[in-house]
Amino acid sequence: MKTLLLNTDFEHLEEAAAFLRGGEVVAVPTETVYGLAANALDVSAVRKIFAAKGRPQDNPLILHISGLSMLYDIAERVPKLAETLAEHFWPGPLTMIFPKKNSIPAETCGGLPTVGVRMPRHDFTLRLIERCGFPLAAPSANTSGLPSPTSADHVFRDMNGRIPLIIDGGECRCGLESTVICFEGDGIRVLRPGAVTAEELSEFVEVRIDGGVLSAVDSGKPVLSPGMKYKHYSPSAQVYLVEGDAKRLFDFLSEKAGTGEKIGVLCASGIALPFGCIRLPYGDTAEERAARLFGSLRKADELGCAAVYVEKPSVQGLELALYNRLLRAAAFRIIDLGGTS
Ligand code: TXA
Ligand code: MG
Repeated sequence: MKTLLLNTDFEHLEEAAAFLRGGEVVAVPTETVYGLAANALDVSAVRKIFAAKGRPQDNPLILHISGLSMLYDIAERVPKLAETLAEHFWPGPLTMIFPKKNSIPAETCGGLPTVGVRMPRHDFTLRLIERCGFPLAAPSANTSGLPSPTSADHVFRDMNGRIPLIIDGGECRCGLESTVICFEGDGIRVLRPGAVTAEELSEFVEVRIDGGVLSAVDSGKPVLSPGMKYKHYSPSAQVYLVEGDAKRLFDFLSEKAGTGEKIGVLCASGIALPFGCIRLPYGDTAEERAARLFGSLRKADELGCAAVYVEKPSVQGLELALYNRLLRAAAFRIIDLGGTS
């Protein structure tokens, strides 16, 4: 299959909509990461998403909507709290989980009785959904297990020849996938942290952070969000989180670089690196780091890095989302060098 690339000029809306109406898969930009979109109500279209990604069948897809009226066609019940959160955070990087209506195929939701829904903050994609008139099921547009794509180039590398169209909307603003929450009693539970932070949500409601956010999920045990079970965000390079002061980090990296292996590093710009280490694009704010993380993990592979050492993030604000992705990319390996106060 030939893969076409088009930009986000609105004149391309109809071409993209035509593919989607015809049951095809189209990669679309969102404010978080690129999505691999298809008609959520069309089982054969949804199967094409799973095939293109190599995604396990029990991992449910998020439904993307362009207006609140679509939500009421998808969700069996919409708590008042969801309407409040939608008012404040939609369009934006917040996915809410609801009991699903029977009209949503089981395949779309990985066989679960629930459905995750979000309204992306992206003009082209919102208009595209509106034009189609059906919700778009869209997981991140990467090959299953690889870092999520934050540019059309990343998507092309994973999906060339597998899907007919990629819409190139440039680099994604957030760079990490949406915050996923479910409703629980009077409160909510964060299943996957993202750019809508627990702190922001707690201005509206009591927030619990699911244990799976910062720890490995036992295989075989039931989990609230099936995506937590799977290996994620992993480049070929071995990723390690590192905790320690600048001096200890320098000494540690000097030793690693001395072995002659290519070493990538993601850390604050003020931290000096020894000769032989490659400073990968990162930044000094959580926002910059979130926007660059996945691109830099992909870059590490392009450059042939054997290992990537990453400064361990905190659990506050957006850093919780960085930490959650990095823990998985690093298969939970943390090296404590000591010396931090
Ligand atoms: O920002 C995003 O959310 C991006 C863009 C494209 O919108 N999408 C995305 O989709 O990250 P995906 O499929 O890569 O991740 C969706 C996560 C998975 O961990 C999945 O298990 C969880 O959301 N999820 C989806 N529906 C769910 C449900 N009904 N119950 C529990 N977890 C659900
Ligand atoms: Mg994904």
